[in-house]
Amino acid sequence: MIPATLHQLKVFETVARHGSFTRAAEELSITQPTVSSQVKQLTKAVGLPLFEQIGKSLYLTDAGKELLSTCQDIFERLNNFQMTVADLKGMKQGQLRLAVITTAKYFVPRLLGSFCQKYPGIDVALKVTNHQTIQQRMLNNEDDLYIVSNPPQEIDLHSQSFLDNPLIVVANKNHNLAGKAKIPINCLDGEPFIMREEGSGTREAVQKLFNKYNISVKVRLELGSNEAIKQAIAGGLGISVLSEHCLISEGKFGQLTILDVESFPIERRWYVSYLAGKKLSNITKTFLDYLLEESPKMTFPSSSILATYATN
Ligand code: PGA
Repeated sequence: MIPATLHQLKVFETVARHGSFTRAAEELSITQPTVSSQVKQLTKAVGLPLFEQIGKSLYLTDAGKELLSTCQDIFERLNNFQMTVADLKGMKQGQLRLAVITTAKYFVPRLLGSFCQKYPGIDVALKVTNHQTIQQRMLNNEDDLYIVSNPPQEIDLHSQSFLDNPLIVVANKNHNLAGKAKIPINCLDGEPFIMREEGSGTREAVQKLFNKYNISVKVRLELGSNEAIKQAIAGGLGISVLSEHCLISEGKFGQLTILDVESFPIERRWYVSYLAGKKLSNITKTFLDYLLEESPKMTFPSSSILATYATN
């Protein structure tokens, strides 16, 4: 048997996942020399190099790749064991790992507030990121549940849709199209536009619609945050397309308005997904049931607020 400790395997798996000793040290809250020495000891125990450094990039060797997949199996099984023990004890105690797309941050934390009050023994790790990063996290089996708008077809998932997530055109309220009804979509041609970053699901949906109608907007700025986009619109840099939920905290007298453009809103829904082969813990099932039961009761910008935006 290779004399490796679980800690060494964890350190190795983290370095392999990030392709970086520095980022692994950050994630594990240990120093970089500790990471290096743990990997060195493991390499010695295996008797073959695990990584190859070419320029600034770190690559796994064949032995490294084999060890990574072995580590992933070990950690998954230990995780399942931990869940089984918690289930046998009948306790709602442990950790729930959730990853959600950026627009879901407008309701998931609120929902988690009441969930955590009801189940104080459950700790939640919440990752908010874009569609592409969630897809990568799914491939690495990093979380228990995912909330997405567009479950990736190429990954074997169980997905259930639970709420609308429409995309609307947002502009500064002084925009010359503000307040107009049924604006033809070709009026957006040449408009200064603020676009989400590459890898964003919102961007993909917008580009698909613009391609369909041959619309070519003038991208002034690319931003990776819906909140930053709202500020840029308020600052007069252009219009954008955002999830309606991004306006949840905007008051009637804010600087933004919704443009009534034909072919909008882009109708989308949120889905809660998990990997098809995954054994769900009691904690995950409890949260899943809670989400499906409680989310329809939550209040979101109603059509009357949206109408107010449109006429202001
Ligand atoms: P995004 O996803 O953050 O990747 O744009 C948001 C959404 O699809 O609602």
